[in-house]
Amino acid sequence: MSLPSGFLDELRSRLTLSQVVGRKVTWDARKSNIAKGDYWAPCPFHQEKSPSFHVDDRKGFYYCFGCHAKGDALTFVKETENLSFIEAVALLAREAGMAMPERDPQETARADTRSQLTDVMEEAVKWFRLQLKTSAAAEARAYLAKRGLSEAAQDRWHLGYAPDTRQGLFVALTQKGIAAQRIVEAGLCIQPEDGTAPYDRFRGRIIFPIRDGRGRAISLGGRAMDPNARAKYLNGPETALFDKGRNLFNIGPAREAAGKGQPLIVAEGYMDVIALSEAGFSAAVAPLGTAITEDQVRLMWRVADEPLIALDGDTAGIRAALRLVDLALPLLEAGKGLRFVLLPGGQDPDDLIKSQGAAAMKALLDAAQPMVNLLWQRETEGKVFDSPERKASLDKTLRALVARIADPSIRSHYTEEIRRLRATLFGPAVKPFRPWTPRAKGQRVEVDAQPLSSTRASSLVRGDEATDEALREAVILAILIAHPSLIRRFESDLERLDLTSEGHRTLRAALLTSPPDGLRANLQGLAALDDLMARPHVLIAPPVRNQKDTDLAMMCLAEEFAKLDARRGARREVADAVEDLTGVADEGLTWRLAQAALARHRADHPNRDDTADLGEDRNALSNHLQSLIDSKVWEKKRP
Ligand code: UTP
Ligand code: MN
Repeated sequence: MSLPSGFLDELRSRLTLSQVVGRKVTWDARKSNIAKGDYWAPCPFHQEKSPSFHVDDRKGFYYCFGCHAKGDALTFVKETENLSFIEAVALLAREAGMAMPERDPQETARADTRSQLTDVMEEAVKWFRLQLKTSAAAEARAYLAKRGLSEAAQDRWHLGYAPDTRQGLFVALTQKGIAAQRIVEAGLCIQPEDGTAPYDRFRGRIIFPIRDGRGRAISLGGRAMDPNARAKYLNGPETALFDKGRNLFNIGPAREAAGKGQPLIVAEGYMDVIALSEAGFSAAVAPLGTAITEDQVRLMWRVADEPLIALDGDTAGIRAALRLVDLALPLLEAGKGLRFVLLPGGQDPDDLIKSQGAAAMKALLDAAQPMVNLLWQRETEGKVFDSPERKASLDKTLRALVARIADPSIRSHYTEEIRRLRATLFGPAVKPFRPWTPRAKGQRVEVDAQPLSSTRASSLVRGDEATDEALREAVILAILIAHPSLIRRFESDLERLDLTSEGHRTLRAALLTSPPDGLRANLQGLAALDDLMARPHVLIAPPVRNQKDTDLAMMCLAEEFAKLDARRGARREVADAVEDLTGVADEGLTWRLAQAALARHRADHPNRDDTADLGEDRNALSNHLQSLIDSKVWEKKRP
């Protein structure tokens, strides 16, 4: 409804913020300066002991230095009483002795319809809940029990059952005196074109009530009991009450829990939200059978600064996550962002909690990746940037993406972060050389024929601590965990691996020693497993995600083993070669050779700053290396 101009100003001027707020908090007498209209209290919006919530009566604004909640008397009442804006105005106007303006008749009519429709919805929810207790619903109850939902949980979520009859609900509601038209308008029944009596939309389904932020029933979701049903889930249609793109399942309770410090988690479906909440992650929401919309992102941000997006770990889920990145990019503002939880092997949060427990879920939530990493990964993963053209094309794509960010400060931080990731990808200038076999003087040296700036698989997680090799090992271990049937085949390769970390050795031991059906149990609870699964690259590796494609897994394993083998074998050869030449293995040798070669390369190409293009000068380089070896360059610098 619209308010006459000046109404809000008048209202604000009649209110004293400290009076409005004072009903909800206890002022800190020592810190407050009442004469100046300066009040301090422990913040009512987050849990704290020391007062960081500040009210400035003269300005009529509050601000919390802890959780950054801010606003005026209207926002305060809105948030603490969980009211709509207009309801907050009405409440405060009454207190301030101001008459609310008359509503315009159209608006009044719309509000009336809506409240009638919510009444109809509530009646329907009540009826469906009753049906779940009847003998006709024995199968539905058994199904819910099988999915781990106790009777108490069923009650908490107001779950119901729609019997497989044509007009069960319709008859029940009309008998209560509800007009057929209202039942249809609420989306509960469908009016056939031929004018015959409406019939029930939800039949033979478990019913999930969908409520708005204030707890009013606005629609229903129904899960088919019959595995052959045309749609596994059926959601109510758009109605005067229900705007799919502006609501999130469980938003009311989630907002409350988020206010108490729970992270806001966005999952894909009803069952995920319920499983998350029941496992203690009570600030969980889900979109309602559609892709996440801009309105929904804004709604999430009103609840939490950094919602954790936990979409299903399948291809569709990843695609949805990337779509969401594109959607959110232009909307980013300071302090607001999204983080992405990568779920392993095609699982959803419900599956993961069932199979591995809340602690495993917590570990994944803690390892959630910021948006920039997903973007980076999408643009670089699996691609090779071995030519100036390819690099330029990557730069162009990244520039275009960053340009879509509206907030200048965020844009500049993105640029910075991408520059950093880019440096990890393209630099340092020279990769350790693929070594050569010992040879007679004068024989040509072969320099690594691979492009020097191929994508490093670990560019995302490595920072500087994790090496390429550690990442390959992780991928190997994860593939074998996902495909235990392949363990025997790769047993000896696995045994021979010179693993880089204790955690990897623990996992290998479990893989090699567990009986085929005991692997899962032996892995359960291992910190090393959590670490492994927290690596986005591991999670995203197709053979880890796709547990059905054994051939793909086998090919990847063979390739990864071969790469590790080549690299390690090569390292040994360098050591051997150097020992041959000097009698003493010198670890600094390859590095010094590389630096010397690089210096020469730079001298030869003064106008080229991208030393990663070294690969183009392979021949010159190998000649040069040979001459360095011939002149025993390392001996001169020995300390
Ligand atoms: P999923 O197919 O991932 O289902 O759909 P789920 O949540 O894992 O369900 P269970 O575990 O098999 O019971 C995720 C969400 O997508 C919407 C629903 O909102 C569902 O919760 N959906 C899915 C539909 O709207 N219609 C469908 O046919 C399927
Ligand atoms: Mn599921």
